[in-house]
Amino acid sequence: MSSIFRDHLFAGKVAFLTGATSGIGLTIAERFAALGARIALMSRKQEKVDAAVAGVLAQGGSAFGFAGDVRNYADVDAALTQTRAQAGEIDFLFCIAAGNFPAPALGMSANGFKSVIDIDLLGTFNTCRAAYAHLRKPGASIISISANHAHQPYAFQAHVCAAKAGVDLLTRTIALEWGREGIRANIIYPGLDRGELVEWVERFYGEYYFRPKAAWRVVRKALFDAGDRKRLYKEAREYLALRSKRKKFVADERAKQTAAPPVPTSAGD
Ligand SMILES: NC(=O)c1ccc[n+]([C@@H]2O[C@H](COP(=O)([O-])OP(=O)(O)OC[C@H]3O[C@@H](n4cnc5c(N)ncnc54)[C@H](OP(=O)(O)O)[C@@H]3O)[C@@H](O)[C@H]2O)c1
Repeated sequence: MSSIFRDHLFAGKVAFLTGATSGIGLTIAERFAALGARIALMSRKQEKVDAAVAGVLAQGGSAFGFAGDVRNYADVDAALTQTRAQAGEIDFLFCIAAGNFPAPALGMSANGFKSVIDIDLLGTFNTCRAAYAHLRKPGASIISISANHAHQPYAFQAHVCAAKAGVDLLTRTIALEWGREGIRANIIYPGLDRGELVEWVERFYGEYYFRPKAAWRVVRKALFDAGDRKRLYKEAREYLALRSKRKKFVADERAKQTAAPPVPTSAGD
């Protein structure tokens, strides 16, 4: 892949990344390794850590990893202490580990809500707090991977919206408090391209809200819960309207994507 960055830009630098054994995090790890950084990875599953490390090594990079849970301060602390011992002071700290599942606020248990808050928000705090002693001062850069959920509400994402809003202000507060020591803290909001967005709407919403079981639950409640019938009928109507809107959106976008390019017309047509 051609790059706008000069070769070996990060030679001699050390990057510690949570949640970099798949998706966006893995790509960041691979790109930083390709530019010469030494990579330390952490996620829960040993086999994913092993595969990610092997991938970076196979591309000629330098990497090692740890199996651990960002919700557990001791895991994060041990991984960072070991990274410092093995590779030296940390130049880049990426807080990427995150959890997500689609559910409306009323369909989510307190425990489900808490698990996302714990991975995203507490995990980011644990990572920054434990890393502080090992960061290069001045010069270290902390990067939290947030989401647009931090600024605007998304249906079925109450937990992620709350967690990412917290991640943002936590990161900005750290920038304020640690900036005087030459530590920068920034936030990235990954986006989706149009094709990915269509896939996301179809798959993500389909997984929870558009299952026949979910529809039946609303109808059943409306039939048997006499006390709250009016609200439940309204909910059922909204459900059906949303369902057909989503179907239309996906069908229209797919049609646009597969449509033949317009035939050029001559001037004056
Ligand atoms: N994908 C998107 O469209 C999108 C959009 C906006 C923002 N984001 C943000 O971008 C980041 C990456 O998203 P992604 O979709 O690429 O993620 P992903 O592929 O689902 O990867 C999540 C990573 O986090 C690790 N992880 C999960 N729980 C953990 C825990 N408790 N402790 C340690 N590691 C844990 C996972 O590995 P294990 O399973 O081994 O733990 C995995 O490496 C996230 O912060 C996400 O919120 C993503």
